[in-house]
Amino acid sequence: MRWIIDADPGVDDAAAIITCLQLGLDVVGIGVVHGNSPLQDTLRNALRLKDLLQSEVPVYAGCSRAILEPQLNATEVHGQDGLGDVRWPAIKSRQELTHAVDMIIAESLQHPGNLGILAVGPLTNLAVALIKDPSLSQRVSRLVIMGGTSGAKGNTTIVGEFNFAADPEAAAVVLGSGIPITLMPWETCLHNLITLEQLEQGGREALQNPVAQQFLQITAELQRRTESYIGSPGFLLCDLLAAAIILDPLVIEEQRDVFAAVETAGTFGRGLTAIDYAGVSGRAPNVSIVLKVNTDRVAALLRQALIA
Ligand code: RIB
Ligand code: CA
Repeated sequence: MRWIIDADPGVDDAAAIITCLQLGLDVVGIGVVHGNSPLQDTLRNALRLKDLLQSEVPVYAGCSRAILEPQLNATEVHGQDGLGDVRWPAIKSRQELTHAVDMIIAESLQHPGNLGILAVGPLTNLAVALIKDPSLSQRVSRLVIMGGTSGAKGNTTIVGEFNFAADPEAAAVVLGSGIPITLMPWETCLHNLITLEQLEQGGREALQNPVAQQFLQITAELQRRTESYIGSPGFLLCDLLAAAIILDPLVIEEQRDVFAAVETAGTFGRGLTAIDYAGVSGRAPNVSIVLKVNTDRVAALLRQALIA
């Protein structure tokens, strides 16, 4: 299967991108979207990562704003520059001229029935691609999405997880697309931190390389923030968990097929992931929601990527 990564780098997006590229996932393109930071920053961060990994994978700028939702960012979590506010060399890589929305459509025509999309930011690029070309849903084999909630425990609004709250209309379009979806919700991420101790198992020496050292620098503040927010040591790397289930399906320890939709109306409910666990809606399941993961397997993938 060929893959597109659609992201808003973002510290945990960086963990996902580093792990996917270092472990050889067949990535045909990285689409960048507004989210953790404004698009110009998430785009610059994607190019930084391309340089760091000396990767040939092309980077495409996507949508700079949501379909309707006013701009939401998360610089308080990811830093003013969106990538931990650490030092980086001057950028060498350049983004492609094609827009990420057009790249998604083009790659689906190149690889019909053999293309997956790992979406770890607001879903604007994918939703606009589906609106521009509704037949796209017939050609994309699988979506693996970090977003939404399994129990309405929001991190951005009362009920809204950031990626869905930053563009509820886009999330609604994507969940209604009919493409098979594996969903990694916020609560599962919250209960499955990756610790430095797990990363250092097998020795610290192997982490003495440019990629691992830069990763440890960009995640240092996130680690401190995670520990003060949750009260236990570790990294809260949501997007890495989503990437990990592609690289190692045994990471998933519990999942459920459910009907899920995204609420776009309401004062308190906008951005809610409405999930029919009881099957009362009569609607066929459209999402496989991941409820438990094996963090040792996730940490092993990240370590393998950092020492590659
Ligand atoms: O709610 C967590 C999600 O929002 C992650 O994808 C993080 O990078 C931010 O985009
Ligand atoms: Ca993200």
